Amino acid sequence: MRKLKDQFGRKIEYLRLSITDRCNLRCKYCMPAEGVKSIPHDEILRYEEYLRIIGVLIQLGIRKIRITGGEPTVRKGIVGFIRALHHLPGIEDLAMTTNGTLLDKLALHLKDAGLNRVNISLDTLKPEKYREITRGGDFSKCWAGIQAAIQTGLNPVKLNVVVQRGFNTDEILDFARLTFEQSIHVRFIEFMSKEAASESLFFSNNETLKILKELAPLEKISKEFGAGPARYFQYKGAKGKIGLISPISHQFCASCNRIRLTAEGKLLLCLGSDRYLDLKTPLRHGISDEELIDLINNALQEKPQGHQFGRKGIMRLMSSIGG
Ligand code: GTP
Ligand code: 5AD
Ligand code: SF4
Repeated sequence: MRKLKDQFGRKIEYLRLSITDRCNLRCKYCMPAEGVKSIPHDEILRYEEYLRIIGVLIQLGIRKIRITGGEPTVRKGIVGFIRALHHLPGIEDLAMTTNGTLLDKLALHLKDAGLNRVNISLDTLKPEKYREITRGGDFSKCWAGIQAAIQTGLNPVKLNVVVQRGFNTDEILDFARLTFEQSIHVRFIEFMSKEAASESLFFSNNETLKILKELAPLEKISKEFGAGPARYFQYKGAKGKIGLISPISHQFCASCNRIRLTAEGKLLLCLGSDRYLDLKTPLRHGISDEELIDLINNALQEKPQGHQFGRKGIMRLMSSIGG
C-alpha cells in the first residue's frame, strides 16, 4: 500500500476537513467586519464527493479526521455525514472543531452517529466580551453547548482559547481554574497573523505559562491527547488538563502530520502556504481512484517545510479553512 509521506519524511495521517465556509458567528480575528462572500452551493463538495476522496485518503494512510468549517454544525445533513464517516473502515479518531453554539441540541445526535469528541472555540468567559469578539454571539449558547458535549460524553472536551494581548490575557487564570472544576482540556493558542497591525495582539505562550504557574504548581504531561500540536500540563488535583498550542514560539512544522481539504475541494498542504491541489474538477470529470492517488501523492511532495507567520507568510481567512 502507498502511504502519504512528504519530501521531508513526514507521515501524513491526519485530515482536517472543512465542510462549509459558512458560520453563525463572525469572530473578529477570523473574518473582516463586512463578512465574506459565501461560496455558491454548487461549488461546495457534496457529502458523497467527500466520502469518495476520503476513501482514497484512507488507502493512503489517513487515520484521523477532524471536521471543521466555517462552523461545521450549520451544514445540513451533518449527523448523517458523521454516521457515514464513522462506518468507514480505518478511521481511528473522528473529531470536530466547533464554536459550540448549536451543540446544546446536536451533541447527543452527533455522539450517537459516531463522533468521538469536540474541540470548542471560546476566547472569553464574559458575555459582553464574547458578544464583542464574535460580533453578536451569545455566550450562554456556547456555554450550554460545552456542558451538553461534556454530559453526552464527547470527551475529552477541549476549549480553544486564542490568547490576544489586552483582550483576554486577564482571563488566563479564570480559564485555568475551570480545569479544577470540570474534566476538560483548556488550550491556549498563540494568535497567528500576517497583519502587521495585529502584531501587538500577539501574546507568547511562554508568557502564558508564567501566568499559569502563579496559580499552582503545573506538571508537564508526556502523554499526547489527540492528533494535534498541543503540549499538555496539569495542576495537581485538577480534573482537567492545560494545553499550549504555540505555532509561533515553538513552531511544530517538523512533526506536521496533516493536510486540509476545503469545502470547495481544495487539498491544502499547509496552513501557512497558498499551495493547493484542486480535487473537485478532476472528481467531477470522472477521475479514477488510481489517478486520484497519483495526483495526491505528487502534490504532497510540494508540502512546504513550514510556515512563516509573523514574517512574510500568507494567512488565509481562518473562516474558510477551519484553522
Ligand atoms: P487534537 O486532535 O484535539 O489535538 O486537535 P487539534 O489541536 O489539531 O485541532 P483544533 O482544530 O482544535 O486546532 C487547535 C489550534 O491549532 C487551531 O488554532 C489551529 O489553527 C491550530 N493548528 C492546528 N493545526 C495546525 C497546523 O497545522 N499549523 C498551525 N500553524 N496551526 C495549527
Ligand atoms: N490564530 C490562532 N488560532 C486561530 N483560530 C482561528 N483564527 C486563529 C488565528 N488567527 C482558531 C479558532 C479555532 C480553531 C479552528 O482555530 O479559535 O479554535
Ligand atoms: Fe504543518 Fe504548515 Fe501547520 Fe507547519 S504551518 S504545522 S507545516 S500545516
